[in-house]
Amino acid sequence: WSRTATKTDGVLAVGGVPLPELVREHGSPAYVLDEADFRARARAFRDAFSDYDVYYAGKAFLCTTVARWLAEDGLSLDVCSGGELAVAERAGFPMERVGFHGNNKTLGELERAVELGVGRVIVDSFDEIERLAAVTTELGRTTGVLVRVTAGVEAHTHEYIATAHEDQKFGFSIAGGDALEAARRVLAAPGLRLLGLHSHIGSQIFDTSGFEVAARRVLALHARIATELDVVMPEMDLGGGFGIAYTTQDDPSDPETLATGMSEIVEHECRALGIDRPRLSIEPGRAIVGPSMCTVYEVGTVKEVALDGGARRSYVSVDGGMSDNIRTALYDADYSATLASRASTSPAALARVVGKHCEAGDIVVKDEFLPGDVRPGDLVAVPGTGAYCRSMASNYNHALRPPVIGVRDGKTFTVLRRETEADLLATDVGIS
Ligand code: LLP
Repeated sequence: WSRTATKTDGVLAVGGVPLPELVREHGSPAYVLDEADFRARARAFRDAFSDYDVYYAGKAFLCTTVARWLAEDGLSLDVCSGGELAVAERAGFPMERVGFHGNNKTLGELERAVELGVGRVIVDSFDEIERLAAVTTELGRTTGVLVRVTAGVEAHTHEYIATAHEDQKFGFSIAGGDALEAARRVLAAPGLRLLGLHSHIGSQIFDTSGFEVAARRVLALHARIATELDVVMPEMDLGGGFGIAYTTQDDPSDPETLATGMSEIVEHECRALGIDRPRLSIEPGRAIVGPSMCTVYEVGTVKEVALDGGARRSYVSVDGGMSDNIRTALYDADYSATLASRASTSPAALARVVGKHCEAGDIVVKDEFLPGDVRPGDLVAVPGTGAYCRSMASNYNHALRPPVIGVRDGKTFTVLRRETEADLLATDVGIS
């Protein structure tokens, strides 16, 4: 839960706003964004990593409001598409503090990024280096470049979000020699300034040994580039991926512990290699926004089924589902849920919170003990839905994507409004 969440007489309030009140005003389902919590987490990373640049990873959740908070609080921003760049532009985010990622940026995206003057483009293929070099020459500009490398480590996380082993689409292999060659080609391109190397090993990672091994390998390459290519790169980015607690089983490290651990490794390694420490940056997304949002749903139906062995489980259907949180279906992610609108003395019973979509895998929370008398009209809240829920939301079954409602000091404000049927039908130009 975000830090301002409180429960009084069974009613959950966030940012001083009781969720039943929020739903009366804004409808359900809704994502609830705790401004104080988001900003406290962003500042905690900024302060713990005070001699780093902290790039918030916009893919976790991005909108103009959040971009503005980050700009005010002195963070930088990682975007990975023209759309995310457009949000940054609309928010007036300082472009020199924007890093542009992606393994297949289009020519149009690269042109726009160069024109806007983004501080760095993280290149991910030889094709892209060529394309970006052509764009900068054509536009008569120069662009800072980081080379995304593959450190060859197995991060302990879901296969789909691990990115540092060799057999996946991101990065230039260090072991295979492509990373060195990429640095050479960037150096040879007149419009490109080689700022450094970039490594991101994966997401929702608790075991920091993957970061350590990656940092060592990337620093070794950094030193090798200094000797072999005779260039001292000023920067290095160690990516994001810091895990958060989705359930009480998870035990994440705080930013200070992460910063101390990371800096120790880097300093030790730089000493061993006899090189100066480059300016470091990191890219946390989930660890900032994940805990600062929850989703509130209204229960529509409750159905009990018998399980093998005689136990029972109730299927609590809510007015959202895999269209607003795909993570359970996609990564088998664990979430928890709580009754948010009233007190109950009914004994807890095994429940599964499911959505309203047309498939059995439409599960929001796999297993949770909810009061046995949960019934239609109740509100159920799911914590930790700030990262990769709204940003991965879909219109499956023509669902309308829920709004993001900001809360602060007892007041609500709309950050993203609820979609309407008119929004959906606007793209359907077949019959007008
Ligand atoms: N930097 C790079 C280059 C990335 O690819 C990512 C995440 C991040 C930073 C931020 O990682 P974070 O700190 O948020 O873990 N949809 C998946 C996560 C995909 C992560 C993609 N890249 C999920 O819902 O778990």
